[in-house]
Amino acid sequence: ARTVKLAVIPGDGIGPEVVGEGLKVLDAVAAQHDLAFETTEYELGAQRWHRTGETLPESVEAELAQQEAIYLGAVGDPSVPSGVLERGLLLKLRFDFDHYVNLRPVRLYPGVSTPLAGVAPDDIDMLVVREGTEGPYAGAGGVLRKGTANEIATQDSVNTRVGVERLIRYAFAKAAERPRQKLTLVHKDNVLTFAGDLYQRVLKEVGAEYPQVSVDYCHVDAASMFFVNQPGRFDVVVTDNLFGDIITDIGAAITGGIGLAASGNINPDRTFPSMFEPVHGSAPDIAGQGKADPTATVLSAATMLEHLGVPEAARKIENAVAADLKTRGDEERSTSRIGDDLAARVAEQG
Ligand code: NAD
Ligand code: IPM
Ligand code: MN
Repeated sequence: ARTVKLAVIPGDGIGPEVVGEGLKVLDAVAAQHDLAFETTEYELGAQRWHRTGETLPESVEAELAQQEAIYLGAVGDPSVPSGVLERGLLLKLRFDFDHYVNLRPVRLYPGVSTPLAGVAPDDIDMLVVREGTEGPYAGAGGVLRKGTANEIATQDSVNTRVGVERLIRYAFAKAAERPRQKLTLVHKDNVLTFAGDLYQRVLKEVGAEYPQVSVDYCHVDAASMFFVNQPGRFDVVVTDNLFGDIITDIGAAITGGIGLAASGNINPDRTFPSMFEPVHGSAPDIAGQGKADPTATVLSAATMLEHLGVPEAARKIENAVAADLKTRGDEERSTSRIGDDLAARVAEQG
């Protein structure tokens, strides 16, 4: 059997609940594909911070770097100042492991209810390629005269030629593989003129190598509207880190909710392990109640299997989810019940 060294970071809030179900489903699929996941669990998040003051010790990060992939639940807790764990753990991993592609599929599965009227499943099938290591997330900027009436806070958006080009290349390659072969840049080049212009020039240059891909552009405000009233316009969407964060929550909302939205933080160069996690956060409002939907985390495991080069196994998980979603009514199922059902549907495909 192929052994996959998998780091597991359950994290905070509903993180441990949903990751537990994801691992159940991964176990079910592993057995059928001659895979063995050798998991190492890392206690990172609020509890560790309270206990030791650490967010991501160097020694732990060095160990993580040796793993083939990372499976993460969510981080962030109301008992920890906002940003400490988000920046010190989650973004640190994305940055240090060069996860420059944040891959977020937005798909409406048959049977799933959407708040949009007159939309059929085929109408929403996009792939958002969100930048993962730059933009306003870079942490550039600072504060002057803090606490005074003249306080100035700046938060710079960092956009490098190398960073934008590798992202856009990845997006074109993805668009070229899909039936519709369409790529839309979402930005705000009418206001963010320096960064927007860089994105536009690179889009044009790389686009010349992909004549079969049709290219489109939308300002992020209009794109937010079109996600809701014309989602069918979009196939592959490439966008900046912050815009991508926001529009993928809209994407989740139109495809059945945040409990279904999967993501992968990808290092396409494979210098570092990629990290797979749901789009949602730690949901402190429902933590510990068995109410969280683990489906997003399960689908993120499918994205991971795809990245690990086992697409057949990824398809089995997606099929299991699709079958489950088709028959979901209004019934309330617990987190673990959904996980059990998904694992059983994987097993059925033997
Ligand atoms: P959130 O995604 O945690 O929750 C938003 C809403 O969605 C809540 O009502 C929550 O109950 C619901 N929800 C989320 N996941 C769900 C699921 N699987 N099933 C059912 N309902 C679900 O976002 P938030 O409230 O803005 O943030 C809470 C904390 O999580 C913050 O500390 C934030 O920084 C952090 N966060 C972490 C990540 C991550 O680790 N990748 C992502 C987003 C937010
Ligand atoms: C996400 C989250 C993170 C982000 C936060 C928690 C840093 O919202 O994964 O979408 O903004 O990228
Ligand atoms: Mn987000």
